[in-house]
Amino acid sequence: MNYNFYLIIPPGMETIALQEFKEKWQIHFPDINLPQSNISLGGIEVETTLEQGLCLNYILKIPGRILLRLDRFKCRDFPKLFNKLKKTPWNNYLLGQIPTIKSSSKKSRIFDSRKIEKTANDAITTYYKGQPPKKKSMEKIDSAPEMTIYLRFDDDICTVAVDTSGERLHKRGQKTLVGVAPLRENLAAGMVYFFKQNAPDITDLIDPMCGSGTTLIEAFEFYKIIKGRAFAFEFFPSFKELPKIKDSKKVLFENFMGMDKDPNIIEAAKKNSKDISFLEQDLFTGESHISMSGVIFNPPYGKRIKLETKLEDMAQRAQEKFAPKMLGILVPESIHFALKAKKTLSFSNGGIKVKFYLL
Ligand SMILES: C[S@@+](CC[C@H](N)C(=O)[O-])C[C@H]1O[C@@H](n2cnc3c(N)ncnc32)[C@H](O)[C@@H]1O
Repeated sequence: MNYNFYLIIPPGMETIALQEFKEKWQIHFPDINLPQSNISLGGIEVETTLEQGLCLNYILKIPGRILLRLDRFKCRDFPKLFNKLKKTPWNNYLLGQIPTIKSSSKKSRIFDSRKIEKTANDAITTYYKGQPPKKKSMEKIDSAPEMTIYLRFDDDICTVAVDTSGERLHKRGQKTLVGVAPLRENLAAGMVYFFKQNAPDITDLIDPMCGSGTTLIEAFEFYKIIKGRAFAFEFFPSFKELPKIKDSKKVLFENFMGMDKDPNIIEAAKKNSKDISFLEQDLFTGESHISMSGVIFNPPYGKRIKLETKLEDMAQRAQEKFAPKMLGILVPESIHFALKAKKTLSFSNGGIKVKFYLL
């Protein structure tokens, strides 16, 4: 039986996220046909089996969350919403708790989020009265991640979905030390994958303003599975163990090097990853004896870190210093960037609209 999954993707990264999905599907499920998938703004719909869909939480690095759609129906009033939700088989997905309700509404009669939340809570409580959750399930509530139900109203069609991820997927599991203005891991993953897609023969990657190393670590880990954290679906009472999936041997790049002028942040980066070489060095001092074929960086820019040097000068300096075949630089859209790009990728970084330029 097939289920409908919805992958929440950082807006702007839908196409690159679909490429990741297709490539990793073939790596991890080579004997299963690629499922039907559709892109929409901020998401990808995938129709597949429950097992494969849930496994996507372990293998994809760009999505922020993965939802499992439970129902879809026309709904223009609260009694109908209540009746539908009280019949949803919640004991398959919830442990007996009242979940967090997240709602959104567009061109629909139902739009009051507080009323939607109350109706959903009442319906789930009524459902539990008729079908009390098992004691075994209830005992797990305190150790389970937050369970969230998404109710989306679009043109009077209500879509009910349960979050299968729990904590957002950019939380990879390993405890990492962060510097100032770190990139979210899933955005960094999208950037490095976009970089590689546009320069498939580049094998070496340097980040000359690496901060705590997020971008390089994401590049190093791209084909590894996410372990060391819990996912909401692992607490679904209906959950049966999934087929074991393993890290792929594939790599995005072979050699990695990180530099930063801040000695403390370099110490943090070294603690975050033993697989990458990190060096304390100012981009503007010294000559490089390392010629790396790819340079990627997220320089400080105004809002969170004061901008003392023009971004164009930073990019040109990195080009002189490392003579890369390609350079990727993340620039806020609010700053005019005069260098001509071969390709760009626009997305939002912590509320700031940014553009990733490939030069
Ligand atoms: C926005 S942060 C990078 C964050 C990083 N991508 C992460 O996710 O952790 C910019 C970094 O550039 C470093 N930096 C600023 N000017 C530099 C320079 N001239 N040479 C090397 N590093 C510099 C800062 O110390 C800071 O760690």
